Order: sequence, then C-alpha cells, then structure tokens
Amino acid sequence: MTSKAIALPQLSGFTEREGAWYAEEIPLADLAKEFGTPLYVYSKKALTEAYQAYDKACIDQQGKRRARVHYAMKANSNLAVIDCFKKLGAGFDLVSGGELARALAIGADPKSLVFAGVGKSATEIASALQAGVKCINVESIAELHNINRVASKLNCRAPISLRVNPDVDAKTHPYISTGLKGNKFGIAYHEVLKTYREASQLPQIDLVGIDCHIGSQITTTAPYLDALDKVLDLVENLKREGIMIHHLDLGGGLGISYSDETPPDITEFTNTLLNHVANRGFAHLDIVLEPGRSLVGNAGVLLTTVEYLKPGVEKNFCIVDAAMTELMRPALYEAHHGIVAAQTKSAKSSTYDVVGPVCESGDWLGRDRTLAVEEGDLLAILSAGAYGFVMASNYNTRPKPAEIMVDGKNAYVIRAREKTAELFASETILPN
Ligand code: LLP
Repeated sequence: MTSKAIALPQLSGFTEREGAWYAEEIPLADLAKEFGTPLYVYSKKALTEAYQAYDKACIDQQGKRRARVHYAMKANSNLAVIDCFKKLGAGFDLVSGGELARALAIGADPKSLVFAGVGKSATEIASALQAGVKCINVESIAELHNINRVASKLNCRAPISLRVNPDVDAKTHPYISTGLKGNKFGIAYHEVLKTYREASQLPQIDLVGIDCHIGSQITTTAPYLDALDKVLDLVENLKREGIMIHHLDLGGGLGISYSDETPPDITEFTNTLLNHVANRGFAHLDIVLEPGRSLVGNAGVLLTTVEYLKPGVEKNFCIVDAAMTELMRPALYEAHHGIVAAQTKSAKSSTYDVVGPVCESGDWLGRDRTLAVEEGDLLAILSAGAYGFVMASNYNTRPKPAEIMVDGKNAYVIRAREKTAELFASETILPN
C-alpha cells in the first residue's frame, strides 16, 4: 500500500485498478516485463486531452481562433511526442538549434515555430532564419544586433519579438523563476521601449511581436495577469509611437499537480488570460501560448525496479534501478514526484528514501515514502512526462532508458534503450 499522507496527482492516462497500475489499457508490470526498466511510459490519451483543453479555450464562442498553442518542446522533445502535438495542430517553442532540427525532422511548418533562448549562437540564428521561422524572441540588445548582422549576411529579414522581463514574482522555485529583474532572462522592463525604437531602425529587422515568460510550475493565475498588464501597457506605448506589432506571446508556465497543488484548470486559465487581453482592447493581437509541463507532465511515468531494501539506523533505503540520471528533478530542485508500487503487495509497509545507484548523496527520487515493497518489485514515479527524459544524463556511464508511448491497448517504442557501447563509441584513446 502507498502512503495516504501524501496526495497523488490527478492522472488521466494512468489508473489503478484492483491494485495494479495501468497505462491506458496496459498494466505497467507488462510494459516493464517486455521493455525492461528504467522505462519512461507516456500516455497518448493524456497528452491529447491536455492539448485539447488549451485548444478549446483558444477558439471563441463564434468559432474564431484567438490564440495558438506552441508546445515548449524543451519539456519533452521525443519525436513521437512532438509529432502527436503537430497532428493536433500545435506549433512549437524552441530554444536551440537541436530543437529546431527536431521540429524540421517531423515536418513542422516553419511558420509555426518561435525560437527563444537567452544565448542563441550566430549559427543557431542563421539556421532559424534559413528555415523561415515565425519569430525569434530577442533577449538582449547585443543579441538584437547579432540577429541583424546574421540576417544581413544571409540577405534576408529577421522577424523578431522582444522578450520583456516584467519584474513579476511568479512565486515558484528560484531556479525556474524567469521574470524577476535579477533573472538573466529578457530585456529589463524600463529598457523595452528604447530597444523597440532601436530595433525599428535596424535594416534587417521586422518587429512582429512582443514576448514574456515569467517562470514555470506557476500554480495561480495572478502573476500572469500582472505580467500581462505590464506587457499590454508597453503595447499601448508602442502603438502611440507608431510601432505596430501583430502578436503577443505569453510564454508557458502553468503548473501541474505533483501532489496536492491545485493549479487552475487549463481551459479556465487560458480563458481568463484571453478575456483579459480582449477586455483591454487588444483582441486584434494574435496570441501565442507556450505551455510545456502542463501538456506532458502528468502524461508520463518512470518505471523502476527495486534492487535492494537497505534498513538503516536513521533511514531505510529503497534502492532502485533509476537514478538522478533518469530523473534529475528531485536532485536539482528537491522536487516531489508521487511514487507508487505498480502492483499492490501484502508486504509489510515501511518508510523509505527511494534512491538510485549513482555515487552522490543527492541521488534520490523520493524521501520518506511509505511503501509496501520487496526486492524485485516495480515502482512508478509519477508526473515524470515533463523535464524527465530530456534532462537525463549518462553520468556514471549509465545508458539512457527506453521511452514507450501507449495508445489504448498498444505500446510503441519511441526511443530505444541506449546500449552501453554507444556511450563511448565516439571516444578515442591516444596513439602510443
Ligand atoms: N517558454 C519559455 C520561454 C520557457 O523558458 C519555458 C520553460 C516554457 C515556455 C515552458 O514552461 P512550462 O509550461 O513547461 O512551465 N526543468 C525545470 C523547468 C524549466 C522551465 C524552463 N522554461 C523543471 O523540471 O521544473
């Protein structure tokens, strides 16, 4: 039995039926048996439902589209995941040349791509311009001039937005807060108008939008509305100066429930923001939303097998075959992920720290979890669909796990498990 003291998140693709956990119609235990562990498992149904919740709010009562979802693929960039979103109608938010290559590999329309990031290289900027992306979000004056230079060399025009740092406290973990003036992101609020004026004088630059992102795992709407008001004030000022922009990018960041958090419902949240834009007289602007976590976070779990139970004086350890290498969030942010036994056992329950085999005391996946488990049992680490696999590493020469997408009764390998030999195949020893 799993501890009742810590609430589990609401999940749509994963359910417990008579003591066994399922991904859609397949028992997790069957997936572990067939594909081994550690194993990432995603539910197509869960990510589809999350997307549709956003999309529903993007269409107004007259059937007119008032916003578009650009999935922030940094949350989970597996080709099968992004291809599902593409087929549902999503555009993408990218932060590297690598993510651009992934988008192009699935045949995404370049005009559905926005390219963000605080330190884009000239090569990445050139690739984005050559691909013909919808917009590059600019994060500094130096970058603005670099984009102008690259566009000039390529003899093309660069469609850009300036990313505003609105100095709004998103009240989230400091590592994932991005809209405070002490953060490295965006152009300082008081410098934005000046920078638009400067940009309007640059020969290769087309000013097409304005952008803002205040952080991630935000569980209330209020900081969004604060940031939105500040950005709309800027749009008003720009209009007065004759600088007309066409789209407003509100970033991503809506949080999910990992335990007992109660983030706003996606449709309600989106409606609130879009209605606010319309009420302030900006309904003519195209709105871009860049959700990541809220589309995939609760659409994925990480399966892991218990290797050893190690009772201790101060703590009992449940040592599993997944580690910070597969799921870095607990080590990096002290993040909480629900952990359940994939099949309920009659074993005696105890309180454990669930830890991996990596040589770091920071290598833990859950602390003080009450679990009834034995060696060889299967655990599911919940809410692992976002910032899970994408942040995995090969530390300790550990191969990255396989990824599976479940669609009803079918399971598809969407990334094969890495083989140990692949990890050093591109290394060479010195000649004698
Ligand atoms: N747009 C921009 C410009 C962003 O920087 C981000 C996330 C997003 C959209 C998507 O935000 P989301 O909807 O996923 O919150 N690794 C951390 C999260 C880092 C988020 C970085 N930026 C974690 O595991 O919590």
